[in-house]
Amino acid sequence: MERTIGFKVAVVGATGNVGREMLDILAERRFPADEVVALASPRSTGTEVSFGDKVLKCKSLEHFDFSGTDICLMSAGGTISKEWSPRIAAQGCVVIDNSSAWRYDSNVPLIVPEVNADAIAGFTKRNIIANPNCSTVQLVVALKPLHDKAKIKRVVVATYQSVSGAGKDAMDELFSQTRAVFVSDPVTTKIFSKRIAFNVIPEIDVFMEDGFTKEEWKMMAETKKILDPKIKLTATCVRVPVFIGHAEAVNIEFEHPISAKEAQDILREAPGCLVIDKREPGGSITPHEAAGEDATYISRIREDATVENGLSLWCVADNLRKGAALNAVQIAEVLINRKLIAPKQKAA
Ligand SMILES: NC(=O)c1ccc[n+]([C@@H]2O[C@H](COP(=O)([O-])OP(=O)(O)OC[C@H]3O[C@@H](n4cnc5c(N)ncnc54)[C@H](OP(=O)(O)O)[C@@H]3O)[C@@H](O)[C@H]2O)c1
Repeated sequence: MERTIGFKVAVVGATGNVGREMLDILAERRFPADEVVALASPRSTGTEVSFGDKVLKCKSLEHFDFSGTDICLMSAGGTISKEWSPRIAAQGCVVIDNSSAWRYDSNVPLIVPEVNADAIAGFTKRNIIANPNCSTVQLVVALKPLHDKAKIKRVVVATYQSVSGAGKDAMDELFSQTRAVFVSDPVTTKIFSKRIAFNVIPEIDVFMEDGFTKEEWKMMAETKKILDPKIKLTATCVRVPVFIGHAEAVNIEFEHPISAKEAQDILREAPGCLVIDKREPGGSITPHEAAGEDATYISRIREDATVENGLSLWCVADNLRKGAALNAVQIAEVLINRKLIAPKQKAA
């Protein structure tokens, strides 16, 4: 009798912040993979990365044949993705991409499983699925159940984004600058436009013509694509000297009335959400506590009387997990659970 075996999964960018987290999450969630391959640039060939209690040796993306691989979790930046995702997809391997390269392509679904899992069916057009930007993922997880209840008209967001959102070199920069400040060494800046240690920088990604940054534009465009094109959203995205965990101060205007208590009750039941909301010192979640966790945490839910049907809240998640790696693995799980893909290899 024929026995079906598990999936073969490749992680591209396995030495990076998101790639390492992907390997951890695949192992933690006992993803039904018979084989997991770690891929990175030629510089990392032979570099060892952890996968559960195993160690994988990285191979070079350039020399890898994807014809026997079912799922590619891609996390090596937009340039690499633009070049490689179509080639990998053409070999019959579904690409789940973390960069912004494919997010706005109408033939590529942009998925947060708790929010728009049904849209995944469109993946067959290109064999590529896009993972949203980290700051968008946690936002739409929190907005979706409230939108279902009272219909969101407009959202105003200010983000407080950790340095890990800019990759491993950015984390090193915060560390070395902090150290330099303490020992009175000169502070050098490479990744960020200004010193990030003991500072905040109101600019993430490049500037657009209208004065908004690309990070701010992404949040607006992705929320529309994932949740509802009618929602108006304006954002100010800010980098803060935190290693892991993005926080967002969110103000929401609804079409219909919704009280803070109703919003709390709805969010308590909502998939992927955890409400920590005691109106006392220390009664809210912070990035430090959310790091390493899977949930999108919501605190400080309160009515905003300055607009009709207004609410304000505070939303925090681990940007490397729900903002990137966990969401990508959850997308792969949807593909499998809905039987949208089957393993290529079958054992006799
Ligand atoms: N960090 C976040 O919160 C977050 C959230 C959402 C999306 N993303 C996106 O996820 C992607 C990765 O982010 P990250 O934070 O993990 O960056 P990172 O820490 O800088 O890691 C980049 C990874 O890409 C690999 N890479 C670079 N050039 C390559 C090439 N020519 N071929 C194959 N692999 C190559 C690197 O391998 P080497 O070590 O060999 O150079 C490394 O594994 C980006 O597109 C980012 O925008 C990040």
